[in-house]
Amino acid sequence: MAPAEKKVISFTVNREPIEVAVPVTRYLVDVLREDLSMMGTKRACDQGVCGTCSVILNGKLVSSCLTLAVRADGAEIETIEGMGSLEEGLHPLQASFASHGATQCGYCTPGMIISARALLDENPDPTEEEIKDWLTGNLCRCTGYQKIIEAIRAVAEGRTEPDPPIEVEIVKAYEG
Ligand code: FES
Ligand code: FES
Repeated sequence: MAPAEKKVISFTVNREPIEVAVPVTRYLVDVLREDLSMMGTKRACDQGVCGTCSVILNGKLVSSCLTLAVRADGAEIETIEGMGSLEEGLHPLQASFASHGATQCGYCTPGMIISARALLDENPDPTEEEIKDWLTGNLCRCTGYQKIIEAIRAVAEGRTEPDPPIEVEIVKAYEG
């Protein structure tokens, strides 16, 4: 089979201008991970189901495993690498995920955080139900989701730390 035709495309990733020649059949996730060595964007299902490959393209959340790279020509792309780092300071969502224990193996986490960022851009004060609905496109096999939801709600409330535990007064029912 003849190799796919190539096209030179240019776009920005986290505000950095990029120009690459890509086969017209190549997906954006491959350009990010393999051509640009940006491994923060993960791939798992390759079918638009799990959300690990989520990036923001021109302000919209997309699955980069289903997005042909040529579609990104002229676009602004944001990936997890652009959100923050230990060296330069974490984005509140990253800090909140960490302090809430909202990550375990971590494989889903970049996609979850990018997805949460897109949600808060669109709806800065989502209810728990709205967060659950939004995250139906992001699968996590480890955390059970509750801590992820709490981490996102915390950022919507302007904090990154969990609620303090409720103090319970223990009353002795019987003495002696
Ligand atoms: S790898 Fe893209 S949605 Fe699962
Ligand atoms: S933390 Fe392991 S899949 Fe989500």
